[in-house]
Amino acid sequence: MNMILHKPHVLMISEITADGKLTLKRGASSKILMKHMSQEATILLHETRAAYDAIMVGSSTIKIDNSFLTVRMVPGISPLRVIPSSMADIPLNANVLDVSVVPTVVAVSAAAPVDRVASLRKKGVFVVVAGEEMVDLPVLMDILYRKFSVRKLIVEGGPTLNWHMLYHHLVDEIRLIHLPFIVGGTDTPSLVGGMHVDSEEQMIRLELSEMRMVGTNLVTEYRVL
Ligand SMILES: NC(=O)c1ccc[n+]([C@@H]2O[C@H](COP(=O)([O-])OP(=O)(O)OC[C@H]3O[C@@H](n4cnc5c(N)ncnc54)[C@H](OP(=O)(O)O)[C@@H]3O)[C@@H](O)[C@H]2O)c1
Repeated sequence: MNMILHKPHVLMISEITADGKLTLKRGASSKILMKHMSQEATILLHETRAAYDAIMVGSSTIKIDNSFLTVRMVPGISPLRVIPSSMADIPLNANVLDVSVVPTVVAVSAAAPVDRVASLRKKGVFVVVAGEEMVDLPVLMDILYRKFSVRKLIVEGGPTLNWHMLYHHLVDEIRLIHLPFIVGGTDTPSLVGGMHVDSEEQMIRLELSEMRMVGTNLVTEYRVL
């Protein structure tokens, strides 16, 4: 039984094309699309990071984008970086594992090989165990809240992690930075991956709370009901 003792406030944020895609094609870095975001929207992204305690992305995004997840365009403190990786198989030269400027938490399952966990710890990464075979996200939320004092968490994708966070009812708000492009592709990652819903009762309902232009990008914000 999953008992959520505590959970930070969670904002899901994403850059998204007019056809709902997060990147150019499967396996491509979202940094290619992000280059086309207006400077004002890029600043908004970095301001948002600076206003939050922690930022989380999935392990595949780390492998594909090699993200830094730091605050760069504005003054401010970079949030704690959190990467769920059930088997602890993040490349040891990944930018996010350089903890000289910002600390990083890698969440693993109990099934993660001990030598990989040891290598991560040797790099100064905080390794936390949540779940048996796969990272248990509600448990991870509780660990982040209690052990790392995380009260506000940003989730910056990708679609697999986004789906699991929504499936577990862990997301409070969604902010989308719309890019005026269409990229197509049936298997191109979109905002949310995972399983389809079987009926309209299972649709995740949102309430639009704000929409505004930031530079040349429309930004929409939703509350998850
Ligand atoms: N436009 C944007 O804003 C944006 C943002 C981020 C990413 N992206 C793009 O999204 C693509 C990658 O997305 P993706 O869907 O392939 O991967 P992802 O969501 O970044 O990562 C998913 C991986 O995280 C690990 N994980 C561990 N525990 C998990 C859990 N409980 N729930 C979910 N995942 C868990 C799993 O790998 P293990 O089994 O190894 O643990 C899983 O395969 C890239 O192309 C990237 O460029 C776009």
